[in-house]
Amino acid sequence: MSSDLITALSERELAEINAELAHVPHKSGAAIDALKIVQQHRGWVSDESLRAIARHLDMSADELDGIATFYNLIFRQPVGEKIILLCNSVSCWIKGCDKLQRQITDTLGIELGETSSDNQYTFLPVPCLGACDKAPVMMVGDDLHEGLTEQLLREVFDS
Ligand code: FES
Repeated sequence: MSSDLITALSERELAEINAELAHVPHKSGAAIDALKIVQQHRGWVSDESLRAIARHLDMSADELDGIATFYNLIFRQPVGEKIILLCNSVSCWIKGCDKLQRQITDTLGIELGETSSDNQYTFLPVPCLGACDKAPVMMVGDDLHEGLTEQLLREVFDS
């Protein structure tokens, strides 16, 4: 193991990634899990972390970056403490997610894709959260909020 790999990935991250490697036939099969592990520990995946993961998985950084970019819950830039994911796919769109988007923007003072100046919130669009029958929906951190109305949204932010 090279010394810069130790610097870029912690022993704990490496141990968790290696545990995932035990379940896949090819190292690249653990790519998403490795990215998630590093993100869990650091909040996001920097270029340095991405290169270190790629080396550990015998992949090129470009190849791994392609996977990270495709998978929209891997953050390649620093994000706020809480991530707000507002679904903007068809069912949620029909049920008025654009109004909720404006309400969130007005409440937090941030547009989609932005992080609040106090680093509390990052507001991101997300394709279908798998709760279309309860549209419109959003996630705040680990909590899924379904059947949102402007009133319910106010209550979420008040709490
Ligand atoms: S379209 Fe929003 S949860 Fe499926």
